[in-house]
Amino acid sequence: MMTATLDFKHVNKSYGTASGPIEALRDFNLEVGDGEFISIVGPSGCGKSTLMSMASGLAFPSSGSISVKGERVTQPVTDLGIVFQTDVLLDWRNVLDNILIQPEMRGLDRRAYETRARELLKMVGLEGFEKKYPYELSGGMRQRVSICRALIHEPPLLLMDEPFGALDALTREQMVIELHQIWLKTRKSVIFITHDIQEAVLLADRVVVMSPRPGRIAEIIETHLPHPRRPATMETPRFVSLVAQVRHVFEKHGVLKVYDPE
Ligand SMILES: Nc1ncnc2c1ncn2[C@@H]1O[C@H](COP(=O)(O)OP(=O)(O)OP(=O)(O)O)[C@@H](O)[C@H]1O
Ligand SMILES: [Mg+2]
Repeated sequence: MMTATLDFKHVNKSYGTASGPIEALRDFNLEVGDGEFISIVGPSGCGKSTLMSMASGLAFPSSGSISVKGERVTQPVTDLGIVFQTDVLLDWRNVLDNILIQPEMRGLDRRAYETRARELLKMVGLEGFEKKYPYELSGGMRQRVSICRALIHEPPLLLMDEPFGALDALTREQMVIELHQIWLKTRKSVIFITHDIQEAVLLADRVVVMSPRPGRIAEIIETHLPHPRRPATMETPRFVSLVAQVRHVFEKHGVLKVYDPE
């Protein structure tokens, strides 16, 4: 069998706090295949960001194990790209220099990576913005720059923790379609965390639906939607039924309340 890009095995995570331990995750099991797009949806506090920190080696499971490319994660993983909810661009560096932070810190040849950075900017529709500063960009543009930065060192795995949470609804929809295009072109393994059921379904091969804290996998739903996915995909019966399926899981776990007519 092929080695999974990312593998969570019986992962439990508790945090020690002043008022006693908080159980954040319980028996989380997931194998992310090469080039697979996984969406994770779940209520606030169910341990989604905790999964990201553990996958990147910034936090560790209380029990169970996590491996990246067959190697157990015991220290910060450098071979991955991370995109957070708010872009963490440096205000004093222009777009190009923000994207080149990683190669620069690793002492790699700037010229080689600069070509790649320009290609990435073109791919996300920001050709010509190389010398702009973050304050000159809209929220959507800044988040696109963050995505370029996460991709610059060609990581096999991309972790995205509510990357579009701070954007307005229209920009967000646009970015979702763009992310899909980027994924079709690069075929990275992606873990995409969101609160938005539609977004989760539209992008994913598999949608991991989580229950409230302690976070457990309530269900994993394979989408089998045809590629490329477009805004019109959301009007198809298959898409509508997948969204309903996720919603029903949340209703079953009391995350979404069902109101009966009186
Ligand atoms: N460093 C920490 N110390 C103590 N408790 C923590 C810590 N980090 C997270 N927690 C707790 O663990 C649980 C899971 O947190 P986490 O941030 O992973 O949730 P989340 O699913 O990402 O939520 P959201 O959707 O709001 O971002 C929460 O109850 C949170 O309070
Ligand atoms: Mg979070």
